[in-house]
Amino acid sequence: MNTEKVDFRSITDEGVTWTMLGTLYLRAWESRQARPILGDRHAAEAIDRIDYDFAALKRRLRPESNQFLVALRARQLDDWSTAFLARHPDAAVLHLGCGLDSRMLRLDPDAGLRWYDLDIPQVIDLRRKLYEEQGGYQMIGASVADEGWLEAIPADRPALIIAEGLFPYLAPTEVRRLLQRLTDHFPSGEVIFDASSPWLGRLVKLCRWAPRDGREVERWNPRLKCAEQVPFTTHYHRIPVRRYRVLYRLMHAVPALRHMMREYRFTF
Ligand SMILES: C[S@@+](CC[C@H](N)C(=O)[O-])C[C@H]1O[C@@H](n2cnc3c(N)ncnc32)[C@H](O)[C@@H]1O
Repeated sequence: MNTEKVDFRSITDEGVTWTMLGTLYLRAWESRQARPILGDRHAAEAIDRIDYDFAALKRRLRPESNQFLVALRARQLDDWSTAFLARHPDAAVLHLGCGLDSRMLRLDPDAGLRWYDLDIPQVIDLRRKLYEEQGGYQMIGASVADEGWLEAIPADRPALIIAEGLFPYLAPTEVRRLLQRLTDHFPSGEVIFDASSPWLGRLVKLCRWAPRDGREVERWNPRLKCAEQVPFTTHYHRIPVRRYRVLYRLMHAVPALRHMMREYRFTF
């Protein structure tokens, strides 16, 4: 990671670009818990280096409660990633809509791996101020909907495709087309991502795609098999603060609440 202070004050609190600063902030906050779920110290280091109005961000984010949502989600995707990379240490990882996430540093994978962090060009420009490309690690500034970036990635390895906090912001046709391009390009792999339920999707202003369940994706793309769909409350026992652990446990007991957000794992 670079070490000089960087100025992010130009980011405004409108639109999706801002959200990636929010998730980074929540992971940094969570890393300071006595018994963290994720413990992302790289996020804390990044936040310490960013010049931004974090007091205003904190008021909007309410980290005391929302840190757990982000930490549980990231931990589930990290656990699936770790399991995949243990089986395929020579894989290609595509981290789509990576924002400022330090997932590669957290997982610290084998040197034989190729890791591609992709986000829109404005975000990758900011990301380059924090992180360096080296070895098999590369950053790509492009929209997932653009043609060209995928074709430039060698298709000779099993692929782990991670999309955290991304698919809800895409139109259904964009998600479908992207999944088709990915399974056409790579011989085999996994796609892991999170999504909201349709009723929650209707309430969230920026949400555009919210599947009923994994069968929707299987119908779109028969090569993709839904191996797991895990409600966001499943690992409530990991929450170190009692009142939030109890809250998540109660939500887990109510099907409509339990399934309002899920992490999905598809194989192909
Ligand atoms: C909620 S943030 C999540 C960032 C990161 N995955 C995390 O968990 O911290 C959503 C990210 O998706 C990116 N994004 C949105 N639309 C995109 C697109 N069409 N192509 C690539 N990235 C996109 C945004 O720029 C933003 O960084």
